[in-house]
Amino acid sequence: MGAEVVIEGLTKSFGRQTIWRDVTLTLPPGEVSVMLGPSGTGKSVFLKSMIGLLKPDRGKCMINGVDIVTCSEHKLYETRKLFGVLFQDGALFGSMNLYDNVAFPLREHTKKSETEIRRIVLEKLEMTGLAGAEKKLPGEISGGMRKRAGLARALVLDPEIILVDEPDSGLDPVRTTYISQLFLDVNAQSDATFLIVTHNINLARTVPDNLGMLFRKELVMFGPREVLLTSEEPVVKQFLNGRMDGPIGMSEEKDQAQIAAEQAMFEAGHHAGGVEEVTGIPPQMQPAPGLPTRQGAIRRKDRVMQILHTLPPAAQEGIIESLSPEEQERYGVHPHRGGYQDPPTINTTPVAPHHRGELPSEEVARIPGAHRRTQGPGDS
Ligand SMILES: Nc1ncnc2c1ncn2[C@@H]1O[C@H](COP(=O)(O)OP(=O)(O)O)[C@@H](O)[C@H]1O
Ligand SMILES: [Mg+2]
Repeated sequence: MGAEVVIEGLTKSFGRQTIWRDVTLTLPPGEVSVMLGPSGTGKSVFLKSMIGLLKPDRGKCMINGVDIVTCSEHKLYETRKLFGVLFQDGALFGSMNLYDNVAFPLREHTKKSETEIRRIVLEKLEMTGLAGAEKKLPGEISGGMRKRAGLARALVLDPEIILVDEPDSGLDPVRTTYISQLFLDVNAQSDATFLIVTHNINLARTVPDNLGMLFRKELVMFGPREVLLTSEEPVVKQFLNGRMDGPIGMSEEKDQAQIAAEQAMFEAGHHAGGVEEVTGIPPQMQPAPGLPTRQGAIRRKDRVMQILHTLPPAAQEGIIESLSPEEQERYGVHPHRGGYQDPPTINTTPVAPHHRGELPSEEVARIPGAHRRTQGPGDS
């Protein structure tokens, strides 16, 4: 099983500039989590802090009982071996072919023989769809292939935790969905804990078990995907719809005067961008047919059902609707049919066995407009 990561009160500044403060969250073992946030909110800094490449000012980041913020250099070195990291550009060595790039961590960190290394490298290249490309140099292949090679290299030490920085950067939407599929396939096969930072809305809506968002130097929310996907929190709504109307501005957050001026503009008919407002919870992508069921997803179901009563009503409704009738029976819950002005139009038929990653609007669950409360930081 992947490792659990418990982060408490983590704060990071550079000189007098605070990047984020008091970040508290738990990455459940083997689950896939996504952290959203506008550019410059410190997502990359967050990942680098988790592996001890940057030193947070205070707080904890506990992995298997080791706090990587305060542990010794030796412990840090040992704990880092639990991580596989896919950096934004793949971070491949330009002068090495893909085989040597992927073999690099094995040659560096293990005493394995070249025969054993060959078996592992070819297995990971095969897994990431790169069989036959081992002699290619990073400069000779597409951006998508470079990312997959970066993923193959991140996988060779069988990491318990996989960190991914903006997998969609430089990729078209279709290739982004393919790499997302690969993450879920790897998760199904390895049960590793995933944290993906991104500002890709499609990925955030269809891939993770848990979703969080950094904004204004804080963790706005972190919790089961259904919580953010049904949230009425203006910044979360704005971000998930990619629109101009809301608290997030061109470069910094907006002040009240700017919000008011823009509001008047949008009310007068100016297009706020984005597609039509997307609401509700689309089905989650699944591992490719033939792969094992994700153990993290099975554990998550029990975990989320235990905290169900603590979640906002719209999220509860979405979670219950996502269960099969048998599961609803087993957990003793049923879709809420009364008390709403408009009866929910969610269909409870099981989702298609294999989800291709698009957002079919007719399948998007419409959550009835009951009063909702938003989840506070740390309230996961
Ligand atoms: N090593 C560093 N020294 C000083 N400032 C940094 C360093 N790394 C990042 N920053 C600053 O931290 C902020 C967050 O950066 P980053 O994590 O790259 O944002 P994101 O990945 O969310 O786009 C930026 O203002 C950036 O300039
Ligand atoms: Mg970044």
